[in-house]
Amino acid sequence: MKAYVFDNLPGDQRLPHDSGREIDADALQRLGVLYYRISDLADVDKLAADRGYRNRDEIKVSPATMGDIYETKVKSFFDEHLHEDEEIRYVRGGAGYFDVRDNTDEWVRIRLEKDDLIILPAGIYHRFTTDETNYTHAMRLFKDEPKWTPLNRSDDLDSNQFRQGYVSTFLT
Ligand code: LAC
Ligand code: NI
Repeated sequence: MKAYVFDNLPGDQRLPHDSGREIDADALQRLGVLYYRISDLADVDKLAADRGYRNRDEIKVSPATMGDIYETKVKSFFDEHLHEDEEIRYVRGGAGYFDVRDNTDEWVRIRLEKDDLIILPAGIYHRFTTDETNYTHAMRLFKDEPKWTPLNRSDDLDSNQFRQGYVSTFLT
């Protein structure tokens, strides 16, 4: 895991966009973003049991597995959105970037590689992209049913109860 302020410079979303301003795991935690490095699947099972994540699946985001829709999918994952539940991803291979908004509404880019597990809280604005290698293999964990509906950022979303819950817990 490596986190830093996104540089906001033009260029493909899959480039590093590293401003050189590093962000540590404590600063991520203050945004409600939890990071774990886990090499033993038994420890994932334990975390899942502790937090009530009863189900999981695996996804390979790549042209080889997705074919023609890959580019469209990667673009849509990069639309700024939130979810009404946590987003938990455990990277099994390849790499990917999660960008989250910080308390000043700047993008923080989090690079994840194999054995990196991240928990994004409900209500945080974020987006995802593969890197230049175009391959992310991730396990997705969820409670009962997946609640993956992305709610794209808009003024109306400010009144969403999950957004308000996030703001009152982590941004005020
Ligand atoms: C998701 C990533 C794209 O919602 O944030 O699956
Ligand atoms: Ni998401």
